[in-house]
Amino acid sequence: MRVMIVGSMAAELGEAARIAIARGAKIAQADDVPSALAELRSGRGADVVLCDVQLPIEDLITQMTSERIAAPVIACGTRSDAVRAAAAIRAGAREYLPLPPDAELIAALLETLGGDGRAPVAVDPAMVATLRRAEQIAASDASVLIRGESGTGKEVLARHIHRRSRRAAGPFIAVNCAAIPENLLESELFGHEKGAFSGAIARRIGRFEAADGGTLLLDEISEMDVRLQAKLLRAIQEREIDRLGGTEPVKVNVRILATTNRPLEAEVRKGTFREDLYFRLNVITLTLPPLRERPRDIVPLAEMFARRYAEVNGLPHRPLSAEAKRLLEAQPWRGNVRELENTIHRAVLLASGDVIDVDAIELPVAEAAISTSAGGPAITRGPSTASIAPAPGAASLVGRTVADVERDLILETLTHCLGNRTHAAALLGISIRTLRNKLREYSAAGVKIPAAPNAVGVADRVPA
Ligand SMILES: Nc1ncnc2c1ncn2[C@@H]1O[C@H](COP(=O)(O)OP(=O)(O)OP(=O)(O)O)[C@@H](O)[C@H]1O
Ligand SMILES: [Mg+2]
Repeated sequence: MRVMIVGSMAAELGEAARIAIARGAKIAQADDVPSALAELRSGRGADVVLCDVQLPIEDLITQMTSERIAAPVIACGTRSDAVRAAAAIRAGAREYLPLPPDAELIAALLETLGGDGRAPVAVDPAMVATLRRAEQIAASDASVLIRGESGTGKEVLARHIHRRSRRAAGPFIAVNCAAIPENLLESELFGHEKGAFSGAIARRIGRFEAADGGTLLLDEISEMDVRLQAKLLRAIQEREIDRLGGTEPVKVNVRILATTNRPLEAEVRKGTFREDLYFRLNVITLTLPPLRERPRDIVPLAEMFARRYAEVNGLPHRPLSAEAKRLLEAQPWRGNVRELENTIHRAVLLASGDVIDVDAIELPVAEAAISTSAGGPAITRGPSTASIAPAPGAASLVGRTVADVERDLILETLTHCLGNRTHAAALLGISIRTLRNKLREYSAAGVKIPAAPNAVGVADRVPA
């Protein structure tokens, strides 16, 4: 993460810079707005700009906008600067950071502005090879298709490619094609003109244009409907898009990264994915191996998560015990890195001694069953936490309709996935579209549906 400080380093802003450096950020500094703009124009760029509220932030933001320099601007000042702070926010500053700076607040800020900006963990040769390949092709403008099971780190890899590309100073915009309803996705991607449809009261710039000069991540591209795929293909080939209801095409300069956790070839054969689009996206393919196929990554990832979640929760860092490491290494991790991350987060909160030991590590039901039946290492496990009960025996199902059982399975799986439609669909082995239709049906029948987490993953930044 590159942070630009606009203002004097001698004052409290310098303290903010030191905290950011300690969190792994790279710092650039400018004394005033004109030199900040010169620095930004030079192509060195910044992921976030921290600007002293005493400086003319309005000018900085206006100029950045007109020059299409996309980076969020954070106004920084003391409490007594309240009037200036309000003016800065009105002018388009993303946040107000009170000074003297609070270390936690800066950490949270850097986190929300695009992960911690560090390279993905890669120790196992299988993952090292994938990362190498990603870094090799990062500089080119070619489209990249990132494949891998759910939770393997596809988005992490996409962000890394962007950071290592010549577009690093430009925006990184992510759109989850599976999480946005079909009828909204078009407007989300391509924007619309005033009057394009009855609710279109003003022009809206879509994500393609927002990503201009940068990278657009189309997450779970297999879920995009065929009609929209045609429009996407045109955008990639012609490097221009049509806003909904627009009369003139708009030129865009965007590099496309796409992810899928389903084999697109099969979708092409079924006719649900356009072959020409497939070839366009598939110029370079990166395949993330599932965690079980890169066992040497398990402990380094777990250690990184243990450190991260201790920090986030304001707890002392505790290492993993040797037994705990062995237990983690023995798991199949069907939910891949995300599942490991959740397990370690829980463990950090549950651990009681000086180390994180096996008693703090609670594994999902299915995994616990597997590790016992495999007669694996004689390691004691903590109680199982998964909220779903073990699969009931056939006897308890008798007398219930298939539709009933299906509904319970779907809702429990969704609850287990904290409302995440994509993960629930993957676990259930159905498409996200089928899941969505089922949920709509239940909802119409008055059943309460677990809410979805954020639908749109906006990215490192929004255009200033
Ligand atoms: N190599 C890695 N280094 C550090 N963190 C990682 C790595 N791989 C994955 N993660 C973490 O694991 C979680 C899942 O990663 P990510 O969201 O990139 O997976 P995904 O493949 O996009 O999953 P899905 O298919 O479910 O969208 C994230 O919290 C991410 O930070
Ligand atoms: Mg993802």
